[in-house]
Amino acid sequence: MPRFVIKPKSFMPHQVTIAASGTSFLVEQDESVLDAALRQGIGLPYGCRNGLCGNCKGKVQSGKVHYRQPPTALSVDDEKHGYTLFCHAIPDTDLIIAIPEITTSTELPIKRFPAKVGGITRLSHDVMRICLKLPDAMRMQFLAGQYIDFILKDGRRRSFSIANPPHEDRHIELHVRHIQGGRFTGEVFDHMHVNDIVRIEGPLGSFFLRENSTQPVIFLAGGTGMAPIAGIIQYALKKRLQREFYVYWGVRSAEDLYMHDQVQAWANTHTNIHYVPVLSDPKPEDHWQGRTGYVHEAVLQDFDTLAGYDIYASGPPAMVYAGRDAFLPRGLDPKFYYSDAFEFSND
Ligand SMILES: Cc1cc2nc3c(=O)[nH]c(=O)nc-3n(C[C@H](O)[C@H](O)[C@H](O)COP(=O)(O)OP(=O)(O)OC[C@H]3O[C@@H](n4cnc5c(N)ncnc54)[C@H](O)[C@@H]3O)c2cc1C
Ligand code: FES
Repeated sequence: MPRFVIKPKSFMPHQVTIAASGTSFLVEQDESVLDAALRQGIGLPYGCRNGLCGNCKGKVQSGKVHYRQPPTALSVDDEKHGYTLFCHAIPDTDLIIAIPEITTSTELPIKRFPAKVGGITRLSHDVMRICLKLPDAMRMQFLAGQYIDFILKDGRRRSFSIANPPHEDRHIELHVRHIQGGRFTGEVFDHMHVNDIVRIEGPLGSFFLRENSTQPVIFLAGGTGMAPIAGIIQYALKKRLQREFYVYWGVRSAEDLYMHDQVQAWANTHTNIHYVPVLSDPKPEDHWQGRTGYVHEAVLQDFDTLAGYDIYASGPPAMVYAGRDAFLPRGLDPKFYYSDAFEFSND
């Protein structure tokens, strides 16, 4: 009796080429373009890796891709114009893609580390500062403004931005806001203690200062979106960068300005740092004399044109996207809008 052997279908990795730089890399079966690029040390812009933030959006100039699940941040219009989200796009063929390649962070390896909680301090009614310590022989090399993922016991991830600058890499400082009903942030507020062991992965993300630009910088921070910006400011101070830095920090009421004195002190002691706190919903007891409203609107009130500026926006997705939509008609070049949208984990 003849015997039939079913051969596994052989898979040839697809080659992806970045049009502008000519850099190419191979993508394995069921791997997304972004995962393959990062695995091979090629820097593409990204944020959530979950199809939510839109940071990894780019064009497929030739070839075809499919998605395991439809990516939320891709509109029908985007798709019509050939855009895709590379964190979700799995090649069906070789591809030529258009997306800016990031060279600065590519040498930084992304690794998993065990870490010990070295300190946990309440900064406000709903923000906790966590200082993580890595084992003595380990350092995580990162760029100011990047983030780490906590890897939970069941493999789920939770992202938090690094609030300290890289020259202080003996610890990793995080500012964690308590989310009502939030699984991980609830644990942090109710059960996390000094000496607890956690697992983290990093450094991640492309939210870091582009030092090849000399343009003045506007920072747009919402709530704990101040964390990565605090890291970048301390880095800029250490390097004595002379660019103008305008820091706009939007929160609800005065109690949410959890590091107001520190940011004010940076502005008081450095003429190139300007600080504008903005409250959207001040309480009567705040006796607030300062700016009110949405933080991106305060920027629009202060700048007639945003041409010639770099803008770094970090915090709630609604703020990040409202900022981008409002700043583009004011002359901002979209390639100078860098963002870190604090999207929720898509478990
Ligand atoms: C790149 C990146 C960097 C981040 N950096 C920081 C940071 O520095 N500091 C910080 O405080 N947060 C940061 N976040 C957001 C943070 O990751 C989430 O708040 C966190 O994952 C919530 O986890 P949880 O398990 O407590 O909530 P979950 O159990 O995942 O969610 C519980 C409920 O709350 C909702 N929810 C979850 N997160 C939020 C949120 N952020 N805002 C409003 N509702 C939410 C969910 O939809 C769900 O209904 C960052 C996110 C990203 C993607
Ligand atoms: S949508 Fe792809 S990284 Fe956020």
